[in-house]
Amino acid sequence: MAMAGRQTVVHFAAESHVDRSIYDPAPMIETNVTGTFVLLQIARRLHVEKFVHVSTDEAYGDLPPGTFAAEDSEDSLVQPSSPYSASKASSDLIVRSYVRTFGLPAIITRASNNYGPFQHPEKFLPLMIASALDDKPLPIYGDGKQERNWLHVQDHCRGILAVLERGRIGEVYNIGGADVVENLTMARRLLRATGKPQSLISHVADRPGHDRRYALNCEKIQRELGWKPTISLDDGLRQTIEWHRSYTKWLTEVRGGHYRTYYQKYYENRGSSLHAITESGRKPTSYLARAIPQPRKATTYSPRTSVLFLRGKNASRKPQAARTIRHRQRRLLHRSLGDQIPAAITRLRRNPRLVFQQRRSHESGSPACQLGARFHAELAQ
Ligand SMILES: NC(=O)c1ccc[n+]([C@@H]2O[C@H](COP(=O)([O-])OP(=O)(O)OC[C@H]3O[C@@H](n4cnc5c(N)ncnc54)[C@H](O)[C@@H]3O)[C@@H](O)[C@H]2O)c1
Repeated sequence: MAMAGRQTVVHFAAESHVDRSIYDPAPMIETNVTGTFVLLQIARRLHVEKFVHVSTDEAYGDLPPGTFAAEDSEDSLVQPSSPYSASKASSDLIVRSYVRTFGLPAIITRASNNYGPFQHPEKFLPLMIASALDDKPLPIYGDGKQERNWLHVQDHCRGILAVLERGRIGEVYNIGGADVVENLTMARRLLRATGKPQSLISHVADRPGHDRRYALNCEKIQRELGWKPTISLDDGLRQTIEWHRSYTKWLTEVRGGHYRTYYQKYYENRGSSLHAITESGRKPTSYLARAIPQPRKATTYSPRTSVLFLRGKNASRKPQAARTIRHRQRRLLHRSLGDQIPAAITRLRRNPRLVFQQRRSHESGSPACQLGARFHAELAQ
């Protein structure tokens, strides 16, 4: 047993890529949740002196614009969005329970987006650098306005060491970089740094449920352990690009075989791969989708459109109002079913607070779907 005779354990192992977790969540749950549980059980049995659990800022989920997640703030709850972040957040909670229930001397770290040498090419920064160096399009998800907090891997490791040596048992420590940068800005910066044209930027379909912002407040680790990032983003990027230029053999090997299949699925056949996901369940939402009012009119009617919703503009932000509006919306739908579509449409037109939304159904011939067709036709008149 690898842990036998060890005093301390730093638990890095994980399935770590969000996109993979969306296409196939099972390995995330197995490795990140069950795997962590297994390690905790062994650590407990072997009475290890310290167990550092390496986690992620993604556990906090999507942050409102301009805000920073702090470990102990009531405003910074663990609210993961993807199967990856949910599996990491779950493992954090299990670690926490082992401290409290079994007295396991464990500490949790939550780091922001890492970059640096030897990072797997499936991750954002190596993918962008490799694409730029190969004169290939840089695939940017959606509008590219997602903000990420960049941390050089050496700073991350220094932070973990500080926690291992001086961290308080049972605590969570954020380890974040100094810079929060939009993905599109980062891609443009890399193109400038590699001397490649900005025309290589290529927007592709967004990641389902894509978080808009991660950003960490790192006052706690600075105050208690004296840690702060030392490598500036400019220096770190320059060094990482240089590394990519000189480690071509390693990169060629890693980007062959399985990675090639991965790349085809996630980028070259992105449309059909994403279609398979969104068709298999509810449409994903993101912070932005929740915060920004939906379009007022559905533009087209497809035979798959069925159930109709009249929805309050601020429904998701005001739960009470949302409940009332949902109640009204159900009544309206009911009345529509009672052949009162014109009345529902008049109300929709009169009341600017109501917003029209559509949901999808797989039964194109269902009564609700036919109702959808009628509603659309009359609304368009
Ligand atoms: N990369 C980041 O930006 C970032 C940010 C914050 C936190 N983290 C965390 O840091 C840790 C390392 O991340 P990374 O980016 O180096 O990921 P990575 O995918 O490059 O490395 C993960 C490692 O875990 C190993 N592993 C996976 N499943 C395993 C299993 N079932 N048993 C044993 N080993 C297994 C892999 O072989 C690999 O060596 C992860 O816990 C991740 O959640 C990463």
